[in-house]
Amino acid sequence: MKPSDLESNLLTNWRVCKATTPQGPPNMPAPAHSQSTDWMNPHAGEVRKLSTLLEVSQALLAAREFKTGLIRVLEILGDHHGAVRSTVVLLDEQTGDVAVEASAGAIDSEKSVRYRLGEGITGEVVQSGTPMVVPQVSHEPRFLNRAAARPELARQELTYICVPIPLDGQTVGALCIDLLYKSDRDYERTTKFLGVVGSMIAQAMKVHQLIEADRQLLVSENTSLRLELKERYGFSNMVGTSRAMQEVYEQVAQVAPTNTTVLLRGESGTGKELIAHAIHYNSARARKPFIKVSCAALPQDLIESELFGYEKGAFTGAHAPKKGRFELAEGGTLFLDEIGELNLATQVKLLRVLQEREFERLGGTQTIPSNVRLITATNKDLEKAIAAGDFREDLYYRLNVFAIFVPPLRERKPDILQLANHFLEKFSLQHGKNVKRIATPAIDMLMCYHWPGNVRELENAIERSLVVCNTQVLHAHHLPPTLQTAEESGTAIDVSLEKATEAFEKDVLQDALKSARGNRAKAARLLSTTGRVFNYKVKKYGIDWRRFRE
Ligand SMILES: Nc1ncnc2c1ncn2[C@@H]1O[C@H](COP(=O)(O)OP(=O)(O)OP(=O)(O)O)[C@@H](O)[C@H]1O
Ligand SMILES: [Mg+2]
Repeated sequence: MKPSDLESNLLTNWRVCKATTPQGPPNMPAPAHSQSTDWMNPHAGEVRKLSTLLEVSQALLAAREFKTGLIRVLEILGDHHGAVRSTVVLLDEQTGDVAVEASAGAIDSEKSVRYRLGEGITGEVVQSGTPMVVPQVSHEPRFLNRAAARPELARQELTYICVPIPLDGQTVGALCIDLLYKSDRDYERTTKFLGVVGSMIAQAMKVHQLIEADRQLLVSENTSLRLELKERYGFSNMVGTSRAMQEVYEQVAQVAPTNTTVLLRGESGTGKELIAHAIHYNSARARKPFIKVSCAALPQDLIESELFGYEKGAFTGAHAPKKGRFELAEGGTLFLDEIGELNLATQVKLLRVLQEREFERLGGTQTIPSNVRLITATNKDLEKAIAAGDFREDLYYRLNVFAIFVPPLRERKPDILQLANHFLEKFSLQHGKNVKRIATPAIDMLMCYHWPGNVRELENAIERSLVVCNTQVLHAHHLPPTLQTAEESGTAIDVSLEKATEAFEKDVLQDALKSARGNRAKAARLLSTTGRVFNYKVKKYGIDWRRFRE
């Protein structure tokens, strides 16, 4: 049935159960005369109905939970229209049954009431999508009365009206009310009115379904983002299997599950921040925030307010209170990078948080408890700083509970190639390049270089090389100039044109041999030259072509 059909069905088509056409109850008490007399009086009733519809729409809009809104609607029908009991039933898509979702009045709300589709009056309304009226329930054998609670109601004659709740062309439930029986009740008006309330419930249901779908989407997006973050900063993303790095991984695995304060030491660009992330995402605090503060990046007079926050009016410009990074990291991890740059005044405050696990905002009097794991990092010689009076010794001991030393790249040569290939893949993808591998002479240059900027420098070198590389192979001449010069790289590359050309030619010949798996004729074809010229050059440069055969 289309929605328009349903609507017109609601307004024009309703059924009175024939078996119970009103004859007046034989032994029933006289009907109560309360505000329910409005059902008979169309003029007074019209105003009441309009104000009810307004209240119903407000109740459905205001409720955060759909069910709470429904209960409120039923209560309104009870208060203003004499419904002695009322229910909203919804079709359970999984089981195909009809179940009570909300109820009000003389209903046993503890009881879980269900009907099969088509069963009883309620089940029939949901199945047919047609409103039904039972003027006298005592005369209707199909009236099941499953949800009734108050026995005294059994002595009174009731009228039962049930209207469908139509949504997107389907009947998704029904709104059912019991009224005290009155022989002159206008069933048509009442049914039409309830039909409008049913349609409003349907619209609210749709809105709640959309909101719920959005919420579910956000929850699943959030979960996958967390997984992605864990993947990004977990162990799996740390490249390098050298002996030195394996020791680092072992230490990270030992300390991550504890709450111990960690001090990461090592030259700039060795991967200290990556390790701090790995510790956090492999700890019980992984679902809580990871907050980073670079002590060198912030002006020294701002660092204290940045760490501990401030109250309104703490200093000129503090127009509103602000949470500090300690508060933002509550329950999680605070990573203080370049801790060696922290000024002495802030060192004292930091020491207090570490000792007492509490602090106050700047200009504040309220003491705030703190549950934060601290990880710090430095490339500075802290012992020297202590000797020079720039770093507090007591703070040093508090921070240095578990120290991890990240070795410089030049001391873990086996990692260079792995890292270079990792960055090649990462940036090829990012820059839309199809560079598949690094040529042997370029690898030699990477291995010989002393990498003062460590992994960060290698990462930048590979990215820069990829930008200028238009072939599938990254060659030595694509590498940045710092690696090309003899002084910087420690490789004795002659810079004369003749020698540079020779080096390039040798590089290209070896590369072709590698692609052709040592087949010289094929390698010559790859370079669009003759076998004779190719063999001459291979001999000239003393290249052992057999080495490229598999
Ligand atoms: N083992 C590794 N595997 C993959 N990438 C790495 C590794 N180590 C470092 N990197 C990358 O190198 C860059 C520098 O690393 P990071 O920022 O962690 O160094 P750092 O020691 O904190 O440097 P600084 O002392 O200058 O702050 C980052 O982009 C990081 O992703
Ligand atoms: Mg860092």
